[in-house]
Amino acid sequence: MKSLGYSRRMATLATAAALVVGGLAGCAKEDTGGTTEGGVALIKAGALTTCTHLPYAPFQAPDETGKVVGFDVALVDLVAKKLGVTQEIIDTPFEGIKSGSDLNAGKCDIAAAGMTITDERKQVLDFSDPYFDATQALAVLTGNQVKTLEELAGKRVGVQGGTTGEDYIKTQVEQKSLDIEVVSYKDLAAQQQALATKQVDAAVNDLPVWNEYIKNNVGKVEVAAGFDTGEQYGFAVKKGNAELLKAVNESLAAARADGTYDQIYATWIGAKPTA
Ligand code: ARG
Repeated sequence: MKSLGYSRRMATLATAAALVVGGLAGCAKEDTGGTTEGGVALIKAGALTTCTHLPYAPFQAPDETGKVVGFDVALVDLVAKKLGVTQEIIDTPFEGIKSGSDLNAGKCDIAAAGMTITDERKQVLDFSDPYFDATQALAVLTGNQVKTLEELAGKRVGVQGGTTGEDYIKTQVEQKSLDIEVVSYKDLAAQQQALATKQVDAAVNDLPVWNEYIKNNVGKVEVAAGFDTGEQYGFAVKKGNAELLKAVNESLAAARADGTYDQIYATWIGAKPTA
């Protein structure tokens, strides 16, 4: 229901008002939560409620029908299945996800947002075992000869606000005293739009999202450079929610063991780098 509502919001402004009503109903106060057979407490009975920040394909983004799909969605669906409930996805700014405030406020049970495990975030969230390895990448419009950050002197580089990519670039600019103007965008779509319309000369985000963008926009954008930041994604639960964390980790381990993980990887990411 929520993913459908989200799509409508994406599609037209006209339905935004209706969506807001739907969204309010979705987190209705009368929900008293529920507990699964395995003893996992959930904020809403019958559902595993996921906070994410859209769009972030191939990890989570609405498909043509508006349903939110992707690598993370598929993995969290496995957790929901294990718990005997259905995943419901809430789209919310990344800041509230990574700061733990959404989970602490009981807005969702789990956060799944292509989110990198960092020491800072570990202070406020409990992360699952890593489920994906990522690096950062610098994207430019095709034909732009730039290959390094140094060559972007006097230029503008777009980043996604609150992300590890933003941190990485800001640190590089500072450490190397680079003459680069870093421009933050509120989400991936805005960042990619800025690159496409030349509001920025280059943009930094996680490599898989550029690969996905390039797949869907052949010839427009290319990856000029990669930065091996050694990042790993984790799902997050509210600090101390050991029962849910256990279920998530068990579900991930089972998926890795029985080939489901590889299947999901092949569907959403493509060929494995090391398989
Ligand atoms: N991996 C990066 C980070 O953790 C970017 C995540 C952005 N995710 C999203 N769903 N918008 O900072």
